[in-house]
Amino acid sequence: MTVTFVVNGTPRQTDMAPETPLLWVLRDDFGLTGTKFGCGIAACGACTVHIDGEAVRACQIPVGDVWGDVTTIEGMAQDDTLAPLQEAWVRHQVAQCGFCQSGQIMQAADLLSENPDPTDEDIDAAMGGNLCRCGTYSAIRAAIHDAARVLNGGRAG
Ligand code: FES
Ligand code: FES
Repeated sequence: MTVTFVVNGTPRQTDMAPETPLLWVLRDDFGLTGTKFGCGIAACGACTVHIDGEAVRACQIPVGDVWGDVTTIEGMAQDDTLAPLQEAWVRHQVAQCGFCQSGQIMQAADLLSENPDPTDEDIDAAMGGNLCRCGTYSAIRAAIHDAARVLNGGRAG
């Protein structure tokens, strides 16, 4: 059975079994390896993508159950222009090994779409399910505040 859905604005189809986790279809069938496998049990957030703008754990969603348009980290930049969150991530040099960071950015994008000016507490609550073995949490928090300023018309930094 073929499953069809939109990924990063483009209709895609897969012949992988409908019960296959979305994560493996993205990575193995579509080659979108920016989304990472960490735990496979919804405990780390490395596999976070958006469905209709909402952050979800791709390791937990059978591809046959995908209910809307999927966005991955590869779909965040527009042509050659990084998204404000990605720019902030670069300015704050957030990434260390980088493994968790695409999931962190996707989770942060969901947060800012719902809460354009989050407090530290809001950030910690929203990002608490995204683990980072390198301990980049303070840089993540600073980058989210910075991106929020830019998105609200303020100055970066
Ligand atoms: S791999 Fe999906 S939450 Fe860890
Ligand atoms: S940057 Fe290494 S796990 Fe987060």
